[in-house]
Amino acid sequence: MKVNRRIYICSPLVDKLSIIYNVPLLDAHNRTIRDLRISLTDRCNFRCFYCLPNGEPPLARKDTILTFEEIAYISEIFVSLGIQKIRLTGGEPLLRKDVPVMVAQLARLKPRLTDLALTTNGFDFTRKAGSLKDAGLDRVTLSLDSLKADRFHEITGVDALDKVLTAIESAKSFGFDPVKINAVIVRGCNDDEIVDFARFARENDVKMRFIEFMPLDSGHDWQRSSVVSGNEIYEAIHSQFPLKLKNSSRESETAWKYEFSDGGKGEIGIIAPVTEMFCGACSRIRLTADGQIRTCLFSTNEHNLRDFVRSGASREEIVEFIQGVVIKKEPRHHINDPKFVQPARTMSFIGG
Ligand code: GTP
Ligand code: 5AD
Ligand code: SF4
Repeated sequence: MKVNRRIYICSPLVDKLSIIYNVPLLDAHNRTIRDLRISLTDRCNFRCFYCLPNGEPPLARKDTILTFEEIAYISEIFVSLGIQKIRLTGGEPLLRKDVPVMVAQLARLKPRLTDLALTTNGFDFTRKAGSLKDAGLDRVTLSLDSLKADRFHEITGVDALDKVLTAIESAKSFGFDPVKINAVIVRGCNDDEIVDFARFARENDVKMRFIEFMPLDSGHDWQRSSVVSGNEIYEAIHSQFPLKLKNSSRESETAWKYEFSDGGKGEIGIIAPVTEMFCGACSRIRLTADGQIRTCLFSTNEHNLRDFVRSGASREEIVEFIQGVVIKKEPRHHINDPKFVQPARTMSFIGG
């Protein structure tokens, strides 16, 4: 069905309606949803073994994927409902054409939208850094799972360590602040580089985040024994570079944040969803590239916002749809329960 394009325009009428609907999104567990993560594509040019090792063909097709106009329209409604942060993810979001155009459309939602961020593997970031910055992107997070060229190649399937290091430099020089770096730590793979990553954070003045391996890999190779706990990561760094906790309460954030006790530059973040679940304060909701709302990374069902919007639903109906979905947000994940079932959709589809 044809989409009603008139309502995509941020008109004064839309603004008025936003005020009427400006009640925060609440779930049944008294959590306020403030953080929307939008996957722009489920395609990726890397084959990280903890994510998309076999390069399964993308599930979303051109006609099933949300257009930029649809994303802008849906985002405007979400922001009117209290969403303050939007993070663009993938797959690899920069594989989608004209991402700066999308960013510029979303940047119009400021100042009610207070934070517009992107997660990228960095491969094509340097080329686009300037236009992303000009379009209004505030922050960027890059993935970097090894500082050794051969190992980087093994982990990602692409010989691109230098490219990603250059991308990190570009992010800094174009004024993205902060620049965060994600490393998924997997036992027997890169756990011998934990201290090197901490040194990298100090030397390059970046926020280095260490993430526990979660069962969201398309290869279904996750094993509990592969998880390097946040505590282990902390001990490894602290023994070499003593750390001081910065956030005694995490609120809805994923990471415990540490600074270096000796005043060294950079920051350490430890994200431990497996051994130290942080669902109790979760403020996140996700929109897949094909327009499905996921209320949890580990949701086993999705809500088809795309077809609802495309059916010509009114703005009021869309608001009700979103509110009805959010209320059903799962209380927590079940990774540690014996009967845990890995969701069918993997991280490459959901976005990080
Ligand atoms: P900012 O605070 O906006 O910088 O983002 P963030 O802390 O949510 O971090 P980011 O988006 O960079 O996510 C880092 C990683 O944390 C992701 O790649 C996931 O591995 C993990 N993560 C993020 N959000 C969630 C979540 O809601 N649940 C779980 N279990 N893991 C998450
Ligand atoms: N476990 C934890 N984090 C993952 N990511 C992807 N797959 C996994 C996984 N199985 C995260 C990484 C990457 C981001 C895009 O998604 O942090 O940087
Ligand atoms: Fe939120 Fe689900 Fe992540 Fe828990 S696992 S923090 S409920 S998205």
